[in-house]
Amino acid sequence: YVKGLIDKLSMERLLSKEEFISLLKDYSEEDAKYSKEIARQIAGKYFENQVYTRGLIEFTNYCKNDCYYCGIRRSNTNVTRYRLTKEDILNCCEQGYTLGFRTFVLQGGEDTKYSDRDMVEIITAIKQGYPDCALTLSLGEKSFEAYEMYKKAGADRYLLRHETANEEHYKQLHPSSLSLHNRKQCLWNLKKLGYQVGTGFMVGSPYQTAEALAEDFLFIKELSPAMVGIGPFLPHHDTPFKDFEKGSYELTLYLISLLRLMLPNALLPATTALGTIHPLGREAGIQAGANVVMPNLSPVRVRKQYELYDNKICTGDEAAECKMCLQSRMRKIGYEIVTARGDFVPFLEA
Ligand code: SAM
Ligand code: FES
Repeated sequence: YVKGLIDKLSMERLLSKEEFISLLKDYSEEDAKYSKEIARQIAGKYFENQVYTRGLIEFTNYCKNDCYYCGIRRSNTNVTRYRLTKEDILNCCEQGYTLGFRTFVLQGGEDTKYSDRDMVEIITAIKQGYPDCALTLSLGEKSFEAYEMYKKAGADRYLLRHETANEEHYKQLHPSSLSLHNRKQCLWNLKKLGYQVGTGFMVGSPYQTAEALAEDFLFIKELSPAMVGIGPFLPHHDTPFKDFEKGSYELTLYLISLLRLMLPNALLPATTALGTIHPLGREAGIQAGANVVMPNLSPVRVRKQYELYDNKICTGDEAAECKMCLQSRMRKIGYEIVTARGDFVPFLEA
């Protein structure tokens, strides 16, 4: 029965909520294997054996929010906070460009110290210095006007995971200052402004149910994003969720494959969290239908301070080491990291 649903999802690219729930509740190991095989074929059809790469620059770990799962939440007083200057950021880009990166991702906590004008200045400088590169922002929830300013300054893409599409679950993961309604509104605003938009969620976050996951899939289908990032929830020792179990590695891989069936041409990263929960997690993610990796370009001196969860990988490695490491990891499984912007290409019916 589940196998039939997997076939249906790959043909029709949509299921009902009830069908998604059985797909998530009733699947066997064999079903997951089947789904990953089809997902890998679909990815191969669109991307061959190519893996896109993004240079991640974690430019601030200050955050005004207090998400219960996140290690850099405002209430965590054990974090040594840091901010990178425009010059620091441009240095990361220079290193990254030499290593073959043609997309930079500026990610940070919601740090009010950088005004919209500061951000515009940074965006403008990056786009002037590296006109052949794409720039992705991941700065959290901002006003329509702020997103508009950043877009005009040259930003191409925006990552904002919706975290969970279930209202009640959203409240269980966040304090009442944050709402699912606003999170979704931000995503729609970004779409309207012409960004390539990325959303996503954590797999196995506390209180997650099959129903909530089904709602995630339905919301993602409705949004029709260019990118979807998912990774397992991993506890951080200084958060309210420190005693919760981590998310399931196998379920994460299965969900990546289902996302590939639903969104054949989407950009799907094999995330750092996936590489943290299992030493070969990123390889397995690619083999389950993902087609993007996002190594870290942040200066090594600040790496450990951007600790969203415990035991995050690559916190001691120079960007060049991570690039070489990932290159050899991808080659070992028959894939090749490419020097390309790797833009989203809207669907063309074959
Ligand atoms: N502040 C921006 C935002 O909220 O979109 C970007 C940075 S935020 C730290 C990036 C992502 O990290 C979040 O969307 C969340 O899904 C993920 N994350 C945070 N804590 C995590 C944890 N304990 N385990 C796994 N992923 C986590
Ligand atoms: Fe960073 Fe392997 S990717 S060391």
